[in-house]
Amino acid sequence: MGESSRGTWPIYRRLLGYTRSYLPLLGVAVVAMALDALCTGGFAALTRPLLDEALLGRDFEMIARMPIWIVAIFLGRGLGSFVADYCMAATGRSVIRDLRQQVFEKYLTLPTSYFDQTSHGQMISRLTFNVEQVAEATTSAITIVVRDTLYVIAFLLVMLSQSVKLTLFTLVIAPLIAGVIAVVSRRFRRLSKNIQDTMGDVTQRTSEVVSGHKVVKMYSGQQVEAERFSRVNANNRRQHLKLVATKSGSTSIVQLLAGFTLAVIVYLATRESMLDDITPGAFTAFMTAMLAILPSLKKLTNVHVLIQRGVAAADTLFELLDGPQEALGEGQALDQVTGRIAFSDVSLNYNGGESVLKGISFEAEPGTVTALVGRSGSGKTSLVSLIPRFYERSAGSIMLDGVDIRAIELQSLRQKIALVSQDIVLFDDTIAANIAYANPAMQGETDEGLKRAIEAAARQANAMEFIEQLPDGLNTRLGEGGIQLSGGQRQRLAIARAILKDAPILILDEATSALDTESERLIQAALEDIMRSRTTLVIAHRLSTVENADQVLVLDQGQIIERGSHATLLAQGGQYTELHRLQFVDGQRR
Ligand SMILES: Nc1ncnc2c1ncn2[C@@H]1O[C@H](COP(=O)(O)OP(=O)(O)O)[C@@H](O)[C@H]1O
Ligand SMILES: [Mg+2]
Repeated sequence: MGESSRGTWPIYRRLLGYTRSYLPLLGVAVVAMALDALCTGGFAALTRPLLDEALLGRDFEMIARMPIWIVAIFLGRGLGSFVADYCMAATGRSVIRDLRQQVFEKYLTLPTSYFDQTSHGQMISRLTFNVEQVAEATTSAITIVVRDTLYVIAFLLVMLSQSVKLTLFTLVIAPLIAGVIAVVSRRFRRLSKNIQDTMGDVTQRTSEVVSGHKVVKMYSGQQVEAERFSRVNANNRRQHLKLVATKSGSTSIVQLLAGFTLAVIVYLATRESMLDDITPGAFTAFMTAMLAILPSLKKLTNVHVLIQRGVAAADTLFELLDGPQEALGEGQALDQVTGRIAFSDVSLNYNGGESVLKGISFEAEPGTVTALVGRSGSGKTSLVSLIPRFYERSAGSIMLDGVDIRAIELQSLRQKIALVSQDIVLFDDTIAANIAYANPAMQGETDEGLKRAIEAAARQANAMEFIEQLPDGLNTRLGEGGIQLSGGQRQRLAIARAILKDAPILILDEATSALDTESERLIQAALEDIMRSRTTLVIAHRLSTVENADQVLVLDQGQIIERGSHATLLAQGGQYTELHRLQFVDGQRR
């Protein structure tokens, strides 16, 4: 992974590919840079007539023309650098936008297991920090390479026009400079990768503390967190400084080489034999051009820092972009389904670990309710998450209406399922938009029909009762800066969302766990209405929900250990009876 497996150039070439759509902009930028370089070089060349003809020769025509030349040159430079900067920035920002969009869209298709395994801070940092660095590498590097190379060429031409001999000598140091660059270059990519990772750590620590601020307060974790952050923070600083040290070190060596060359040139130019060939103006023009080359050389020697940094960032992004994703759009699209689900000998192990589910077989008919019960960690959530294919089963088969769910197009499969999961996610939007999440009719003006459907769903989920109390009713904003809801209120919105989806399969994973008995009873009544026409799987916390189920599956350590109706299971006196007894005692205590 990373450094050794992929070369710098293939990655960089792929990166440059992102600028392809903006070639006209780049073309304009290059022309503007050429104008800039021409004028800058012209200014250095101007010192010769200025000295030899205007000042020493007292050529009045030249004296009169000089101010005009100077203004013209600076006009050209100003125009050139403005247009070049603007066009390059436009290209860079476009590349950032394109790449960011691409990465974001990739996030939308990543398999669930990817999210389990990757820190969310790293994922956010990639989208923000890495993407910016990549664009830096493309546009800033292009700018430097093109503009400063043109400068160097312009100045070299000025130098050549003044003295070929001195210029040739100057060029002797070029290979030395190249050598320095090659040596330090390798170090940069590794350091840059470290910096990006430490940036991800900073983001991760921050996002955990921000979302877990109450836990931090309750357990007085401030000190622990501050210390942990300070380590991450210090590491980030250390990696940055290492990079700076390497960068400045190489600059200094290059500068030293240049200074040495300069000394030798002054020595050579002042030899008797040379003094005859070279006028004071020519020597000044030569020196001006040579000194003006130095900043450009410095930038060119450092451009690989930018490139390496971008390549390190791009490497991570390309690895992500090339990585696995859910196969949306493959398989057969389903139109109407009755919703018959059949598990046969299904097992699951997450990421090659131990089996979490073993030999699960059962059938769930349309219009029936299947209840899953069992201790926490027994595999209930894992079992239902196989149906929308959040995870792929390791063995066995799962059929929907007699079709293997693997052969069904993912989106079409998921459209058939309404799932209320254990952890409820509400988006930073209005209550109505949350209930009608991703409903195409929600775009723009909400139509009357949908409004009524949203309200009906909210009413069935027993949510209207509290929504009506809110200042803006269904149009109240949720999320950060908006209104905060209780656990039970959130669950009711999630249930309303599932009701509105109106799918043939309904899965409720402890969907009413945060509700009081009264609310639960009300929702239960509404749900029973809905369940009549669909296949329902319900993971129940409270056994009262289970009593009316058509079949009850008791899970233990990933296996179905008991099955039957509430009454038959109770009569068996097994684990279900035990669970029921605990629940009953627990229920009485409340
Ligand atoms: N995303 C996951 N990756 C790896 N292991 C998991 C994941 N989700 C659950 N598990 C493991 O699977 C087992 C069953 O968990 P789960 O299905 O959530 O149980 P339940 O819903 O019955 O409480 C647990 O041992 C848990 O550690
Ligand atoms: Mg669970």
